[in-house]
Amino acid sequence: MIHIKSPKEIEIMRRANAIVAEVLQKLSELAGPGTNTLELDRISEEICRTRGAKPAFKGYRGYPFSLCASVNEQVVHGFPNKSTLKEGDILSMDFGVLFEGFYGDSAVTVPIGRVKENARKLMEATKESLFKGIEMAQEGNRLSDISHAVQEWVEQHGFSVVRNFVGHGIGRELHEDPQVPNFGPPGKGIRLREGMVLAIEPMVNEGTYEVDILDDGWTAVTRDRRLSAHFEHSIAVTKNGPDILSGPA
Ligand code: MF3
Ligand code: CO
Repeated sequence: MIHIKSPKEIEIMRRANAIVAEVLQKLSELAGPGTNTLELDRISEEICRTRGAKPAFKGYRGYPFSLCASVNEQVVHGFPNKSTLKEGDILSMDFGVLFEGFYGDSAVTVPIGRVKENARKLMEATKESLFKGIEMAQEGNRLSDISHAVQEWVEQHGFSVVRNFVGHGIGRELHEDPQVPNFGPPGKGIRLREGMVLAIEPMVNEGTYEVDILDDGWTAVTRDRRLSAHFEHSIAVTKNGPDILSGPA
């Protein structure tokens, strides 16, 4: 069942997502050669606490950290750890909060120092594909118009979209209906209505879209171990078009 949010609820979700955006912005500034992602996890919690929010992922289905930190071939749900990031890596950071009863959820992928051309292009195409999807989040469009726009953009750039993980509705729960795939034909699924809030989150691979899960039970990696990138925004469908609650990436 899809929960429609009132304008008041959307304003709370904007505040929740502003905290997420602040955390991701700060971590993006800190992430560089020599930083470790366990340190970033600690900082994410600290900012969260000072803003009166709770990290959304810690304890969710047993996930052990506040931040998801996925390096290079890691697609999503990477565990923060003490190994240092090195020049040329790409780092996907996914973060969520619970604030005044509502969730916020957003993700970015950032370069560590100077990165190769292919890595830069992958990150750029992934971020753009998110905005192509967001543009389709208009009242009266169908859900899969978002999915299709993401997939088209990604494949036109020679990359592939992950099938095993999808975006989602978000509100009083981190994951609400509907699921928002990043692939599929246009014109299918529910009609988008004012008050729907969606987390749109393309995960894009350099090579095959297939993924493996590591022995930790969480970390998703590309089957061919080539690079992967991830961007996510929580957006509200409004009469005036999509409203990005998690701020510009
Ligand atoms: N943005 C991701 C999602 O919506 C992050 C979830 S991590 C988890 O699924 F640990 F909470 F599962
Ligand atoms: Co999400």
